[in-house]
Amino acid sequence: MSAGEIRAFAPATVANVGCGFDVLGFALEAPGDTVVARRTDGRGVTLVDVRGDGGVLPRDERNTAFVAAAAVLQSAGVEHGVALTLEKGMPLASGLGSSAASAVAAVVAVDALLGSRLSFAERLRCALEGERAAVGTPHADNAGASLAGGFVLVRGSGQDTSLLSLPVPENLTCAMLHPHVEISTRDARQALPTSVALSDAVTQWGNVGALVTALHRSDHALLASALVDRVAEPARAPRVPGFIETCAAAREAGALGSGLSGSGPSIFALCDGRERAEEVARAMRAAFERGGHGAANAWVSPVGAPGARVIP
Ligand code: HSE
Repeated sequence: MSAGEIRAFAPATVANVGCGFDVLGFALEAPGDTVVARRTDGRGVTLVDVRGDGGVLPRDERNTAFVAAAAVLQSAGVEHGVALTLEKGMPLASGLGSSAASAVAAVVAVDALLGSRLSFAERLRCALEGERAAVGTPHADNAGASLAGGFVLVRGSGQDTSLLSLPVPENLTCAMLHPHVEISTRDARQALPTSVALSDAVTQWGNVGALVTALHRSDHALLASALVDRVAEPARAPRVPGFIETCAAAREAGALGSGLSGSGPSIFALCDGRERAEEVARAMRAAFERGGHGAANAWVSPVGAPGARVIP
């Protein structure tokens, strides 16, 4: 990195976390995206290069990092421009918050380059502009968790979006399976029901309350019973190869519960401790492969890892 450049990393995230469609998310330790930003004498954003995406992502104002960086320039009211390089460190359309990580890394890099002028709320709003460009909606469960780190609850929407930081029980660990297929969040949102039966809604908000309580009390049994999603997962899971076998394998190997990470295809499982999570990750991958669903990789991460930051 040359002098005058700022490099920022933003982690992948698990959004929804079962029952919390668009309102719950937590940060993973890895993978994540990196943005390098430097000042230019021109105006606006120049996306100099995107690496690690196989040439698939737009290199212009349609890129989520570009949009988020432009929002930072506008919020900070600066006259000069920035040049960005985006290094994708995570798979696209994977359910791991890829577009959010790019937007958040751009926001953190550009804000730091300008002398850290923006408040947390302004940084979140800029990252959500990136999400809006990538996905069509500025949902904050991925971007909020990637920016803040930890485990977050999203409240409000649009300009009124805010986050509450939730406690994470000691040793709560995530086992993750990433099937090597792509599901675009934009498409997956179109698969959602346009209305929800009142009985499902009642179950769902009861589960969200129970999950938040379980995190506060470190109550694993309550957490396990609260992870059920009656709204998004039933509509999306049929499109995810091996979903049922993989979740069953996670449970048999001792996971507290599992579900779609974001809009999928990745599948997360929450576990008590790293050793258990390693076993669960192995079991999930073995079940997926036994089912003949193709390639997948699995890994573990603490739940609620640190959020986006400037790195050397
Ligand atoms: N809450 C979003 C959704 C997350 O489920 O559509 C997308 O990763």
